[in-house]
Amino acid sequence: MPQTLLNKVAVITGGGSGIGRATAELFLSEGAKVVLFARSAAPLEEVAALAPARVLTVTGDVTVGEDLARLATATSRRFGQTDILVPAAGIARLAPLVHANASEIDLQLQVNFLGTLNTVRTFVPHLNSNAAVICLSGRMREGCGLGAFNATKAAVAATARSLAVELAPRRIRVNCIAPGPTDTLMWRKIGVSPKQTEQLLAKLTGPLKTAQLGTPQDVAEVALFLASESAGHVTGQEIVVDGGNAAG
Ligand SMILES: NC(=O)c1ccc[n+]([C@@H]2O[C@H](COP(=O)([O-])OP(=O)(O)OC[C@H]3O[C@@H](n4cnc5c(N)ncnc54)[C@H](OP(=O)(O)O)[C@@H]3O)[C@@H](O)[C@H]2O)c1
Repeated sequence: MPQTLLNKVAVITGGGSGIGRATAELFLSEGAKVVLFARSAAPLEEVAALAPARVLTVTGDVTVGEDLARLATATSRRFGQTDILVPAAGIARLAPLVHANASEIDLQLQVNFLGTLNTVRTFVPHLNSNAAVICLSGRMREGCGLGAFNATKAAVAATARSLAVELAPRRIRVNCIAPGPTDTLMWRKIGVSPKQTEQLLAKLTGPLKTAQLGTPQDVAEVALFLASESAGHVTGQEIVVDGGNAAG
């Protein structure tokens, strides 16, 4: 079978863990050259070990403009123009909106919304025509303490729609994937105990059997579709990958 992304250059922020990592591994298996970005080097190196000749790792923070600029420069020096951009770096913090600490709300805005927007803005001059940008939005059930997270993700979805229109003259497609609750380390870093995390995830997942926790691979498969030529006429869309959670 021919590889879907043979020799395509894919840049993935948050590529050391969860959805970003699963996407990186799937893209590598489909022949892509992959650039991984996150703050911790070790997880990125684990992915790089799968195909050292086709992986570049860059450490940095999506909230720091110089780090994003360094990522773009390193990518073009090693692999040339970028065909696929997946700004997947993101965080969640648990706190009802009325009680949430302002600095935690701001951090989620900085990483999830501005981090995504600034990653795309930095890469615009480095994107090939026909490039695909795949953002990570998402919407958790209201009333569970993820209001600030939901607000940042709504901003990502709105931004992706605008960017799809702005970049259409260059035939660059911009889409979003909205994962439902997905089994990644994000949930271990929300600021509560493992037991409280389990209780939260039980509240967030719906009654449908199909809406139990998704896997990072479920999301990566949709990212592969959006990155591929099969999605050549798909832009400005948000694809929900939640096993029917929102519907059930
Ligand atoms: N898991 C879910 O249920 C779910 C649902 C909806 C949407 N999403 C979204 O999907 C995306 C991936 O999340 P995930 O669940 O795979 O989370 P994850 O397993 O925690 O992975 C997050 C990745 O982002 C990186 N990251 C975090 N802050 C960063 C920063 N300031 N600069 C650079 N890299 C940073 C992390 O590495 P370092 O810490 O080393 O930097 C890690 O590689 C996020 O945008 C998330 O909001 C997830």
